[in-house]
Amino acid sequence: MRNKVSIIGGGMTGSTTAHWLAEREIADIVLIDIVEGMPQGKALDLQEAMPIVGKDVKIVGSNNYDATEGSDIIVITAGLPRKPGMSRDDLLTANAEIVRKATLETIQRSPNAIYIVLTNPLDAMAYLTLKLSKLPKDRVVGQAGILDSARMRAFVSAELNVSVENVHCYVLGGHGDEMVPLTTLSNVAGTPLKSSLAPERLEAIVNRTRKGGGEIVSLLKTGSAYYAPAASVTQMIEAILKDKHLIVPASAYLTGEYGLKDIFFGVPVQIGRNGIEKVVVYDLNADERQALNRSAEAVQQTTDALRNLVSI
Ligand SMILES: NC(=O)c1ccc[n+]([C@@H]2O[C@H](COP(=O)([O-])OP(=O)(O)OC[C@H]3O[C@@H](n4cnc5c(N)ncnc54)[C@H](O)[C@@H]3O)[C@@H](O)[C@H]2O)c1
Repeated sequence: MRNKVSIIGGGMTGSTTAHWLAEREIADIVLIDIVEGMPQGKALDLQEAMPIVGKDVKIVGSNNYDATEGSDIIVITAGLPRKPGMSRDDLLTANAEIVRKATLETIQRSPNAIYIVLTNPLDAMAYLTLKLSKLPKDRVVGQAGILDSARMRAFVSAELNVSVENVHCYVLGGHGDEMVPLTTLSNVAGTPLKSSLAPERLEAIVNRTRKGGGEIVSLLKTGSAYYAPAASVTQMIEAILKDKHLIVPASAYLTGEYGLKDIFFGVPVQIGRNGIEKVVVYDLNADERQALNRSAEAVQQTTDALRNLVSI
């Protein structure tokens, strides 16, 4: 049996995810969008690239959810992206309706799927998918932390002129400007970042990481980042399908971990074939705990606003 991954939203992030994923040759891919002809055209174009890269992957595009039937993984990345000057929370009303429909249409056709949500505001949209799908909490995860951590890793790597493979960074918290880049646990081949970088350089990297999404939005002007987000979700898909037990930061439903309950929030999780296997709890210092609590308050406000919009 081949694995099947359905991506809801064939825009920049969805189609780039299909591209990274096809190159890994780990699943057949379905791309769904409301724009007529677009997912079909992108899927066909990508299918025609497979003989060149030598990968046997079936890629289907459709406007009809029937094509998603029996998926192992559903990725939800349908919805509006940010424009310059917008926060992720500004997308709540429009995207809640899109994610509601995507969840309800897919869960009836793939009741055993694992969901990876990307649509913003991310933590609230993952919450919506969990509540509407009625899945166990370990089968719905939000993608944010791999991306935010990768941005920090890219900045550290460039600053120190060291391989990205040696740079390990951990960004926790909500996927918003209050996210928490952990400077004590992040390291370069085992040397803590604090010992590798002058305090003002480290602070500059932390601030740039927090605003990393906004930096790209203001450069692109017509949309938000998609290469790194798509690479991030592809890493999660691979970890699930290959049952890797990979520990990465991601948005998970918490039931008391880090002192938080009934909220999706960015924490280290171990992922494998059954979804989230466990939430890893770091030993944080008082400043980091305080920063995480501030971030959790922001996510809680958005989640409350969501609950006023949709009955869940
Ligand atoms: N969590 C993350 O790290 C992360 C990263 C990148 C993007 N995002 C979010 O993902 C979403 C998509 O971003 P993008 O850059 O791909 O935007 P995009 O505009 O390129 O693509 C969005 C696609 O969704 C489609 N769509 C809209 N309503 C739909 C519906 N009801 N059913 C199916 N498809 C529908 C649109 O037609 C469009 O093709 C945004 O909300 C963005 O903020 C999140």
